[in-house]
Amino acid sequence: MKVLVVGSGGREHALVWKILQSKRISQVYCEPGNGGTARETGVPARGISRIGDLADFVRQERVDLTVVGPEIPLTLGIVDHFQKLGLAIVGPNAAAARLEGSKLFAKQFMQRHGIPTSRYLQTTSPVEARATVEDGCFGYPLVIKADGLAAGKGVVLAENAREAHQAIHEMLEERVLGAAGEQIVIERFLEGEEVSFLVFTDGSHVLPMIPSQDHKRVFDGDCGPNTGGMGAYSADWLLSPEINRQVMDRIVHPTIQGMASEGTPYKGILYFGLMLTAEGPQVLEYNARMGDPETQPVLFRLKSDLLDVFEGILE
Ligand code: GLY
Repeated sequence: MKVLVVGSGGREHALVWKILQSKRISQVYCEPGNGGTARETGVPARGISRIGDLADFVRQERVDLTVVGPEIPLTLGIVDHFQKLGLAIVGPNAAAARLEGSKLFAKQFMQRHGIPTSRYLQTTSPVEARATVEDGCFGYPLVIKADGLAAGKGVVLAENAREAHQAIHEMLEERVLGAAGEQIVIERFLEGEEVSFLVFTDGSHVLPMIPSQDHKRVFDGDCGPNTGGMGAYSADWLLSPEINRQVMDRIVHPTIQGMASEGTPYKGILYFGLMLTAEGPQVLEYNARMGDPETQPVLFRLKSDLLDVFEGILE
């Protein structure tokens, strides 16, 4: 069997490494790829990243299955495009990937389905955003999120009004995040331990992966801003059996059922960024894909054949 992994980071390197352990694999490709993935696959990466070009590559090389690592091609509709061409691909379509592509969509979805998350306000107006800060109704730290995709840089934890006003100015007025920051979500900060909880799903059934945790803030002592890819670890004790059950019953199943009931069933890998608060687990964010860098420790511990899981999602 031939598999294409789409992406170019450590997450995709880990996916390639794990897929190569399947007995049924004859060749893995990774595009656009990187030096590490090329060493793993044994073929130089060609740097292909456009969705149409990836589909051409799959047809030309007779690839049996494509797996998508990053969120951008998913939100741009790579799954919709491949499906139209009859090509097997693992991941959510663009409508389902909105769970990650729009923070506002995710918040409203959670509200509709009673999924625990923090209180929020959505706005495109700097005046309204500043009034919310001055009102102080969410307290500090205050979470300010860009609605769209911002490569891990779209969430600001403001410790005081000055930092909050600065984030509002940068996102809504200076547009430092471009269109991603045209609309923002302001929400109450949730206290607790953060856990990354990933599942495989075919749109109705769910298989959870083991819990993991990433190191979000840059600089020692957690004193820098949130960023992506600082490292991750996985340990069973991150979630007790009771909390695990609450996560499945109150968050995971309602999300999968909610997406199906809205006519946008979610197929692929879904990442729940959770905060374990004193009131129980709550959702910080959804990601429409495997975590980066959580994929590395999670796949390192996975004993099952990943190809079997991917085929299960499709079939
Ligand atoms: N580790 C956070 C993320 O993958 O977005």
